[in-house]
Amino acid sequence: MIDLIDVTKSYGKGLPALNHADLHVDKGEFVFVVGSSGSGKSTLIKLLLKEIDSTSGKIIVSGEQLEGMKHRRIPKFRRKIGVVFQDFRLLKDRNVYENVAFAQHVINMPGRVIRRRVPEVLTEVGLAGKYKSMPDELSGGEQQRVAIARALVNRPDILLADEPTGNLDPRTSEEIMGLIEQINKRGTTVLVVTHNKDIVNAMRKRVVMIHDGRIISDEKRGGYLEA
Ligand SMILES: Nc1ncnc2c1ncn2[C@@H]1O[C@H](COP(=O)(O)OP(=O)(O)OP(=O)(O)O)[C@@H](O)[C@H]1O
Ligand SMILES: [Mg+2]
Repeated sequence: MIDLIDVTKSYGKGLPALNHADLHVDKGEFVFVVGSSGSGKSTLIKLLLKEIDSTSGKIIVSGEQLEGMKHRRIPKFRRKIGVVFQDFRLLKDRNVYENVAFAQHVINMPGRVIRRRVPEVLTEVGLAGKYKSMPDELSGGEQQRVAIARALVNRPDILLADEPTGNLDPRTSEEIMGLIEQINKRGTTVLVVTHNKDIVNAMRKRVVMIHDGRIISDEKRGGYLEA
């Protein structure tokens, strides 16, 4: 589902943010990406979304090679990937339903599909009773659930999460990570960047560790060990 072959990303002078990285993720896998601040984790996410281009190497995501992809192809490609961030990034002046429906409007999904799919996905994330709430009426955990619903509404192959529990307390973090695990069990390939050692150590998933742009370990049922 994801293949990086000898991928380097340099932003300019100095050490590359990603340095000859190789990574293979199969369909249906759950992968944590860990590493200290500045190690290149968000760079990896941005490369997978084709928000930035690699300096060298080859990246294949959901069957599509990113180098040389036509610009007009990029929006369709991105539909195959859902993404969530630490800061939720909801539309503050839209309610829960509208925040999720918006992701379908922008791709011209027919209204009847939106009216069916939005409640479905809000139920999946445990927010069936909160359609009309505004983001600032929700807890951080609930706001992240809305962001996850929005990421899933177009049924992506892959869910990418960049520090999804960074703004949440430990208990809410566990709930959100549990939800992401459920989503993975229903078939979505998941890649989660996190600093949350307790969660990584508790969940025993595959753990890829990055240090100074290099993948320094890749453990099948790993923990979060210090580099
Ligand atoms: N747009 C940019 N221009 C120049 N350098 C950048 C840019 N984005 C990131 N970098 C540099 O690339 C390196 C990796 O950054 P990246 O954001 O990928 O780290 P990270 O692992 O996500 O860190 P954090 O845990 O703090 O989020 C850092 O040295 C950073 O300063
Ligand atoms: Mg980052």
